[in-house]
Amino acid sequence: MNDFDLQTPTQAPDLETAMKVVYQWSYGPEVDELRNLYHKATEAQWVAERDIDWDRPIDRELFATTPLGISMPVERTSYWRSLDPEVAWNVTRRTAAFRLSNFLHGEQGALMVAAQLVNAVPHTDAKFYAATQTMDEARHVEVFARYIEKLDEVQPIAPALKGVLDDTLATEDWLEKLVGMQIVVEGLALYSFRDMRALTKEPLLRDLLTYVARDEARHHAYGVQYVDRCVPRLDDARRRRLEDFALSAAKTLIDNRRPETLFASVLSIWTEAGIDVAELVACLQREMPEMDERPEKGRRLGPVQGFVIPTLKRCGLLSERVAAHYHEFLVANLGAEVAGRDVEDFLRSVPELPEDTATWVLSELR
Ligand SMILES: [Fe+2]
Ligand SMILES: [Fe+2]
Repeated sequence: MNDFDLQTPTQAPDLETAMKVVYQWSYGPEVDELRNLYHKATEAQWVAERDIDWDRPIDRELFATTPLGISMPVERTSYWRSLDPEVAWNVTRRTAAFRLSNFLHGEQGALMVAAQLVNAVPHTDAKFYAATQTMDEARHVEVFARYIEKLDEVQPIAPALKGVLDDTLATEDWLEKLVGMQIVVEGLALYSFRDMRALTKEPLLRDLLTYVARDEARHHAYGVQYVDRCVPRLDDARRRRLEDFALSAAKTLIDNRRPETLFASVLSIWTEAGIDVAELVACLQREMPEMDERPEKGRRLGPVQGFVIPTLKRCGLLSERVAAHYHEFLVANLGAEVAGRDVEDFLRSVPELPEDTATWVLSELR
């Protein structure tokens, strides 16, 4: 107990948040889909210590299949293939530790936002659900921290992610918390978890991502079902504010024109690990035309276009006004071929989310 103290050296400075707390005196079920989701969540609880075999060491060879999480096929270049095996292992390990660290910090943000939602949302069913989510997020923090400890070390949070978490924690509007966390952050995270889970063959990582993604599928469903119910009751000004909040969060996390993006951090990790980034990019440009780049349909859209934007559309938060902004930043980052020639073209390309998103995510995890 000697090193226990009220003020710890690792904690961040206090963040001022403005949040109103709502008592609700009606305790019976009112929003059936949220009550059902709450029941499902209580049944689906798992125990990280008991249900995952933590004694397994990380399998280095299989770990090499873990995706780097960038949209360029650098692993297929001759430059990458000719890397010294020790350098290759180090780059993959450090890059994965960076991604997993940001998953981890994001989970801490989700833990705190979920706990805030218990206080701030007005409906009992929504408070109950947020309580189960709080427990889920604590478990997610636990498992990511434990895996990173085996792999490497926890790296600092990316400034872009910290900014979005701060804004979501600080807003006094509980609907903005729901949209920022459940739709944008969780949407992007769920997409990345699924992507990493689908490609990595490292057994321990696959196991924990499966458990986590099952929970996240419910969290996303909670956001969709609750926000979808609320939006038609909002006046124009509040709906516009919600649309802008989602747009700004998505842009902060994804827009590569900003100096402090996740991608910029990955490049600096590579340089540190001994990669000549300029040479790698030149090699990629030379060899790209010969690569058979035909990823299966759907994945090409990426997390914002393939997941976050369809969710916003479902919830009634994709007006033409805000669609023009999404189109602008997607064109700047991905080109008009992927983002659409104009706003109409872009809107036409937004896929419909299946009715039951939680079941859909689970079916992809089998
Ligand atoms: Fe989570
Ligand atoms: Fe979550």
